[in-house]
Amino acid sequence: MSCTRFAERVVDLGTEMAFEILARARALEAQGKRVIHLEIGEPDFATPENVVAAGVDALKKGWTHYTPAQGLPELREAICEYVKAFKNVDARPSQVVATVGAKPAMTFSLLALVDPGDEVIYPDPGYPLYESVTRLAGGVPVPIPLREENQFRLDVGELKSKITPRTRAIVLNSPHNPTGSMLTPEDVRGVAESVEGRDIFVISDEIYDRIAYGAKPVSIGTIPEVRERVILVDSMSKTYAMTGWRIGFGIMNEELAEKVSRLAINTYSCPAAFTQIATIEALRGPQDAVDRMVAEFEARRRAVVDGLNRIKGISCSMPQGAFYAFPNVKGLGMKSRTLADRALDGYGVAMLGGDAFGPCGEGYLRISYANSLENIREGIARLEAAARDILR
Ligand SMILES: Cc1ncc(COP(=O)(O)O)c(C=O)c1O
Repeated sequence: MSCTRFAERVVDLGTEMAFEILARARALEAQGKRVIHLEIGEPDFATPENVVAAGVDALKKGWTHYTPAQGLPELREAICEYVKAFKNVDARPSQVVATVGAKPAMTFSLLALVDPGDEVIYPDPGYPLYESVTRLAGGVPVPIPLREENQFRLDVGELKSKITPRTRAIVLNSPHNPTGSMLTPEDVRGVAESVEGRDIFVISDEIYDRIAYGAKPVSIGTIPEVRERVILVDSMSKTYAMTGWRIGFGIMNEELAEKVSRLAINTYSCPAAFTQIATIEALRGPQDAVDRMVAEFEARRRAVVDGLNRIKGISCSMPQGAFYAFPNVKGLGMKSRTLADRALDGYGVAMLGGDAFGPCGEGYLRISYANSLENIREGIARLEAAARDILR
């Protein structure tokens, strides 16, 4: 029995299954088992060399102290140039808050906006933070289902039906974790129309927008009618394979930026100074490493989807972006989590049950293809062996 009484806000605080499964996979590896990792949501590429060199140089030059909580002015300028170039979004440095990864930009925005009883609409399945932090703030989570029949895109008509006088924020994530889906320009316009003229914020999680395989994703930040209430969130984590550097940003109206910065001051003061300098290089420097990484992901995407579609009991549609496949495993007649457990323990392939992303993820698996083609083929072969034994 525990001897510590915890504050109610953390008793049921959500977590990320990816970290739990990774720990279990590592424990199996410590026993000498070989595990294929298809659970991890981070690029398996090294941070581009020019960015590492800029970070090392910054350390040597003494970028080892506090910076303004909102981020270095030069970094915020570089972020504005970047979002203009890659998203066609106009922003001023005073609207930018550089954060320790994308997470604080979302967490602090929700904490700054949501009072107890306020509603936040977010995708189900979706990244777990949206629901966890809504609850942490005392808000009411309002999931909007993303269905396979609709290519896992939200249905704008359904979104409208979920908006109430208590709706405070809507979370968009395109390209989407865990399904790899992407909103169309019409979807984005539809969302903008649903909130126009209302006191509702749109948190647009665009962390995967450089990792798209066909059409380019459209940011809701390009729509002037709603821009004042858009919180555009992005990060270096996936685009530049910089997950461990912990740097991202939010772009929002100046009043909100001030509140979000205050929350940063009270939490971690500022992102690491040398990380900020390296990020300026990432944003302004050559982009060919990103292009190479995306080309490699594209080849893997095809291998994963083709491999999955050859397995009896499994079908998988083609993801449009990010590095995840979200196969339908209903034909195996087993709960997603049980299947993921069985695949890990019995066959040494780590994946996530789709239910780790919300109830509408039940019946699916999330497979990350941030691994070599060779390992992906081996992982899919192991899943196939599991499926064969289940259906036997
Ligand atoms: C959709 C989504 N948003 C945000 C994040 C958090 O990223 P960061 O490392 O920038 O905090 C992730 C990480 O997996 C993600 O998948």
